[in-house]
Amino acid sequence: MLNTINIMIDGIETKVAKGTTILEAARDLDIHIPSLCYLKGVNHSSSCRVCVVEVGPRLIASCTLKAEEGMKIQTNTKKVREARKTSVELLLSDHDRECLSCSRSGGCELQTVSNDLNIRTVTYVGEKSNQEKDYTSPSIYRDASKCILCGRCVGACGTMQTVGAINFAKRGFDTVISTAFGRPLEESTCVNCGQCIMACPVGALTEHENINDVWNALENTSKYVVVQTAPAVRVALGEEFGLPVGTRVTGKMVAALRKLGFDKVFDTNFGADLTIMEEGTELISRLNSGQNLPLMTSCCPGWVKFMEHNFPDRLDNLSTCKSPHEMEGAMVKSYFAKKMGIDPKNIIVVSIMPCTAKKFEGAREELSNESMQDVDWVLTTRELAAMIKEAGIDFVNLKGEAFDSPIGEGSGAAVIFGATGGVAEAALRTVFEITSGKDLETIEYTAVRGMDGIKENVIELPNGQKIRTAVVHGLGNARKLMEAMERGEKTYEFIEVMACVGGCITGGGQPIVDARTSERIDIKAERAKAIYTEDEAQTVRKSHKNPYIKALYDEFLGTPNSHLAHELLHTHYVKRSKF
Ligand code: FES
Repeated sequence: MLNTINIMIDGIETKVAKGTTILEAARDLDIHIPSLCYLKGVNHSSSCRVCVVEVGPRLIASCTLKAEEGMKIQTNTKKVREARKTSVELLLSDHDRECLSCSRSGGCELQTVSNDLNIRTVTYVGEKSNQEKDYTSPSIYRDASKCILCGRCVGACGTMQTVGAINFAKRGFDTVISTAFGRPLEESTCVNCGQCIMACPVGALTEHENINDVWNALENTSKYVVVQTAPAVRVALGEEFGLPVGTRVTGKMVAALRKLGFDKVFDTNFGADLTIMEEGTELISRLNSGQNLPLMTSCCPGWVKFMEHNFPDRLDNLSTCKSPHEMEGAMVKSYFAKKMGIDPKNIIVVSIMPCTAKKFEGAREELSNESMQDVDWVLTTRELAAMIKEAGIDFVNLKGEAFDSPIGEGSGAAVIFGATGGVAEAALRTVFEITSGKDLETIEYTAVRGMDGIKENVIELPNGQKIRTAVVHGLGNARKLMEAMERGEKTYEFIEVMACVGGCITGGGQPIVDARTSERIDIKAERAKAIYTEDEAQTVRKSHKNPYIKALYDEFLGTPNSHLAHELLHTHYVKRSKF
């Protein structure tokens, strides 16, 4: 057994694989070692020293120390407990400790560690670093006074997403997490994916809240307020109310939105079906003309901004389709307004999204018509949960209700947009039938499912045409793929990209899962399973079979990619600086 070694932790002998850290070995034995800066696969900087253990005479950070043959480790001695307490007290001494009003209160990992270590007073007093708050980004709010310099956000932004919009700057007591040249976040290369928020153990990074804007809209009796919800929200919202990961709460969510006072509750799945109609037609037309291939999906605003900053010469490859919630907003303020006889200027569209980048997207001036934004406010899953709690709604015991019509219902193909591979699969369900001219029985294209970072397939259409497809999730993987294409090593006709690993189900606006829980539960897998179950439960599972979509084209748009469809449902992109 050359690849295993023998160690002893707290008197328990164990065998572990070479390369295993002490923290991993202890957790396998259910021995609890607290940790804070460590985030598996994202940050291994061992900066906080909360996870120290005693090895011989030395105190060593267990999150990075690799086990060695014969090592004897002690995780619970007086020396260890005191060292951990000192490290946490030093962090608390320079932390804004307004825990009662902090958005992470109850879910803050610093709070948990402090409680676990039984810290009741902070011994160290003195000068505090006076950090600024940055409200400039429409997506992300940074409160550096709560930052503990653990580096988890830097790992998420740089190592995982390869965006690198933030990093450590300055030295010693002046050390901060900063953008290049200390510019406001809004002026940086940040793509707004919010993975830094998901990585942050405290309340230093949150979404730019718009809860009060939506309350004000609901209070305004002269406004007709329409809400729509993205597919990934319904498989995660329940977690904010203590339900297990992967619980589907679609009906309860609709009921809660009605109780909050929205005039109509629509499903963004309708917009996703519409996206498939427009993007599928665009793909067929690009395949026929051979121009601007590969077609790259454009429904993920983090990916779109990443392209604008990093690959500005490839913007013609992006689909011109607006993302599903933007398409739906545009239809609410045109088709629906006309049908209902409402002045679109009196309509406010609110989108509930699993994503912080959707806030930035909602404010893009290209995504408007006749000086009206397609979508007025975007709330994250977390913000919706906060509103439901604020309104005193007993979410868990709500009876399920259905979405409103006529533009509120979507197909199973639309639901799977929430998981990586979903857009490609939904597009294939429609493109296959349109090119064959007949109904096909097999509709599950499982080759594009799963959590491999880059999934490649060659798909043969019924007319013999071959589509080399890549499905990518996580911007680090997207960069690898783009660079391979730039070097001429890879060629495709169709590429689906989602900025977040796993797709929208783990977007930056979803419930935050602490580092320990994310090691024990496969969050991506559980939420994805719920998404595919939701698809199987639908009677209509192909976008082009959605009767409301057919009615929309018959009554209003004409055909996919028509002149009116282009005016209302398509967009363009802007080249942005790399730095
Ligand atoms: Fe190990 Fe921070 S040093 S968790």
